[in-house]
Amino acid sequence: MTLYFLLLQYVHVIGATVLLGTGTGIAFFMLRAHLTGDVFVIAGVARIVVTADFVFTATAVVVQPVTGYLLARFLGYPIFDGWIALSLILYLVTGAFWVPVVFMQIRMRNLAEAAVRAGTVLPPAYHRLFWTWFAFGFPAFAAVLAIVWLMTSRPVFSLYGGA
Ligand code: HEM
Repeated sequence: MTLYFLLLQYVHVIGATVLLGTGTGIAFFMLRAHLTGDVFVIAGVARIVVTADFVFTATAVVVQPVTGYLLARFLGYPIFDGWIALSLILYLVTGAFWVPVVFMQIRMRNLAEAAVRAGTVLPPAYHRLFWTWFAFGFPAFAAVLAIVWLMTSRPVFSLYGGA
């Protein structure tokens, strides 16, 4: 165990907690704000959520593969086979759902702010976006949970047949 390894592992685990924590936090606060039906609350929370995703999630999204790759290289694990390769596939799945979610949040924030300024109710476009956003969260979150399981249990298997 070198200091280099321990430091990498520490940053990697902190990145994992940031990803999971920000993801669940954002989902909870957006849902709670939406359920109030209050345009002011929705606009305010959506504004904060957009910032939080850029500051926390986006940072962790970059830190995880970088520290993960360095950990794998240090430990001599293959990247394109076994649990790491499966995690990478799941990471792409998460990204495929998370990237559109970021744009949906920006659009929902803009629609809510426009409704506040105009003194109107939220338009149907907001509601359509909200439910799409809600649905996209499930596969993204399930994939992250599966990655955490793979990273902590490290099952031995090959994607190319055999163990
Ligand atoms: C995206 C590319 C990733 C790669 C290449 C990668 C690679 C690795 C490697 C090599 C380890 C060290 C395993 C060991 O100590 O034997 C590790 C540990 C870990 N990874 Fe990742 N990882 C990635 C992404 C993620 C993500 C997205 C999460 C969670 C959101 C995550 C969570 C963890 C956790 C919690 C550990 C600690 C395991 C332990 O020390 O028991 N990793 N990862």
